[in-house]
Amino acid sequence: MKVSPKGRRALITGITGQDGSYLTELLLSKGYEVYGLVRRSSNDPLVRLHNLKSKPHIVYGNLRDMASLERAIKEARPDEIYNLAAQSDVGISFKCPEETEEINYYGVGRLVNAAMRFNPKVRIYQASTSEMFGKTKPPQNEESPFLPVSPYGVAKLKAHEDFVVGYREKHGLYICSGFLFNHESPRRGEHFVTRKISISLVKVKLGLQDRVELGNLDAKRDWGYAGDYVEAMWKMHQQKKPQDYVVATGESHTVRDFVNEAAAILAIKLHWSGQGLREVAKNEKRKTIVRVNKMFYRPTEVDYLLGDCRKAAKDLKWGPQLSFAKLVRLMVESDLAALSRGIK
Ligand code: NAP
Ligand code: GDD
Repeated sequence: MKVSPKGRRALITGITGQDGSYLTELLLSKGYEVYGLVRRSSNDPLVRLHNLKSKPHIVYGNLRDMASLERAIKEARPDEIYNLAAQSDVGISFKCPEETEEINYYGVGRLVNAAMRFNPKVRIYQASTSEMFGKTKPPQNEESPFLPVSPYGVAKLKAHEDFVVGYREKHGLYICSGFLFNHESPRRGEHFVTRKISISLVKVKLGLQDRVELGNLDAKRDWGYAGDYVEAMWKMHQQKKPQDYVVATGESHTVRDFVNEAAAILAIKLHWSGQGLREVAKNEKRKTIVRVNKMFYRPTEVDYLLGDCRKAAKDLKWGPQLSFAKLVRLMVESDLAALSRGIK
């Protein structure tokens, strides 16, 4: 017999982030009592949650602070935990490796231990990542070897091995990893490449900015829609046994493809020339719209991610709903509407 989610209690760490906001909407719509862990910030951390009709409960805490996690768990009394909190910027992880490890590895250990002590039957979702596959040849699935090349990928892999696989085996805990490939939306942080391209090209179109500077245009990513991916997280918690799943679209595009798709939506005609650091894209008036800047290159790069999510399709009956073209359009039109309002 399936347990109705109504009245179930969920604790979401990272509720203020992109995925946290979509997952909150999903769980509230299913009748969950939702608690969100929020860390103190000098700015309003709840901007992504302001438009929700019903609201989650907010508990203050930090993955770096064990006492705060124990207090949050005691207050939320969760049946399900979704650990989405992380230092999630791969580029920044090269600059702040210790902070990345502290949050993305030790933080997971603190949360899992506090949760298990409070309720050994709790179900925990860990936000693992395609970045853990790193240099492994595509397509990547649950059996593919992990070869991370960034401090971010390394910390996430250690957390997966020690606290997901390890605690499942040692303690019989219901804990699972979603190996999620890149997923985007109008709520994506502005430093990730898709949102940076979307906002910048809209600003170029509106005459608010001259050009956009990017790093590696050849990197290939399997980009899906965040709203689809949180559905898979929830489904992983509704299985008989905890298992890990790849969540992806099975389609990969270069950063350059994303630029071209976004520019076409805005009717900006781009003509590419040059190679490597000298590559540029100019518009019909021969004005440079895209330029490469080595500042945005990473010391080591994941070249090609392409997910094979047949296991999720079979067990979870999950599949991506939004195509690449529709995703880019959604992001560009959202930024265009917001920025056009700003200049009226
Ligand atoms: P995001 O928008 O950057 O959100 C990260 C969240 O973590 C924010 O709410 C942030 O809070 C919180 N956080 C950071 N450090 C914390 C700490 N020490 N204590 C408590 N909270 C902390 O990331 P996202 O795109 O939603 O991704 C969600 C999760 O999925 C992350 O773990 C990420 O690594 C993983 N993931 C993402 C993708 C993707 O393509 N989006 C793919 C695979 C895996 P503030 O608002 O205070 O900064
Ligand atoms: N951020 C950024 N900015 N990336 C750029 C730029 C730029 O100006 N120019 C090129 N890129 C390239 C990066 O080098 C990378 O190859 C690709 O664009 C995607 O970069 P991001 O959007 O920053 O995402 P990511 O793939 O590094 O990491 C995201 O996806 C992971 C899953 O694979 C994050 O959401 C991670 O948290 C997540 O785990």
